[in-house]
Amino acid sequence: MLMTNFLQKRKSVRNFKNNVVPKDKLENIKLLMEEIGESESDIKFSFYENGSIVAKGLDGKAGYDGVMINAPHYIALEIKEDNAINALKCGYYLEKLNTKIVDLDVDTCWITVDQVDRDTRKNIFGEDGENINFLIAIGYGAKKKLFDPEVTSPRLKVEEIVFKDKIGIPVSIEELENYGIFDIFSSVRYAPSHKNLQPWRFVLEGHKIYAYMVKTDEDSRSFVDMGVVLFYVEEMMKSINIQNKWNISLKDDGKYYYIGSYNI
Ligand SMILES: Cc1cc2nc3c(=O)[nH]c(=O)nc-3n(C[C@H](O)[C@H](O)[C@H](O)COP(=O)(O)O)c2cc1C
Repeated sequence: MLMTNFLQKRKSVRNFKNNVVPKDKLENIKLLMEEIGESESDIKFSFYENGSIVAKGLDGKAGYDGVMINAPHYIALEIKEDNAINALKCGYYLEKLNTKIVDLDVDTCWITVDQVDRDTRKNIFGEDGENINFLIAIGYGAKKKLFDPEVTSPRLKVEEIVFKDKIGIPVSIEELENYGIFDIFSSVRYAPSHKNLQPWRFVLEGHKIYAYMVKTDEDSRSFVDMGVVLFYVEEMMKSINIQNKWNISLKDDGKYYYIGSYNI
């Protein structure tokens, strides 16, 4: 599926059926984990087939609104050292894997576990468990019951996240269309982010896009969100035949962190 369509349709699933994911799909997912994990030495994926152990261990400590998200399986991403660059990598690679899992018609949800005490994480995930800050739950979403509340997460408008030359100066839709990137930035808004904070901002200047992150008291998580969105921009640019990579160069910039630039 085209990444722009994929993003507009994707949604976090928090209510899973008990059914396990069939063995052949799980094997496929494990291969994807290996493939993506091999490309980057600072990260390591691990797979927890028996999800009930993870769910019980994290009960009351992680999930959504204090309730653990029970899924048949989980995937964790371990980072070697906890710093901003590795948090960007965590978002980039865990979301890369996530999109491939969703492509297999399996539902997923990110779960933050950085607030869970070290001993609990070690008990559940093993000796290096304290280096695990994020998981994705995987399985099949249960059908919504008639009176279940609809969880919709509103998104910022394109003009609230994309600017011209400087944050705060509006960019015209015509200009984005001239560069062929209006669809890309309309779709990137649907990327998942921790508490739906959507900390990403972009500045178009000549043939470059500059990425910034809004500072909050949750920066360590926002860096992961930034990694997610950097991944999506690279993927969607491929649809207009641009295969470039972000040039990352973190800098403190007042209310923002400057993250890096992308050539269009
Ligand atoms: C880094 C990160 C951490 C997240 N942590 C959680 C979490 O702990 N629990 C949860 O229910 N959702 C979590 N999410 C999912 C977001 O809440 C969700 O993506 C956002 O609210 C937008 O909703 P949507 O994914 O349905 O479009 C996380 C997402 C990201 C990217």
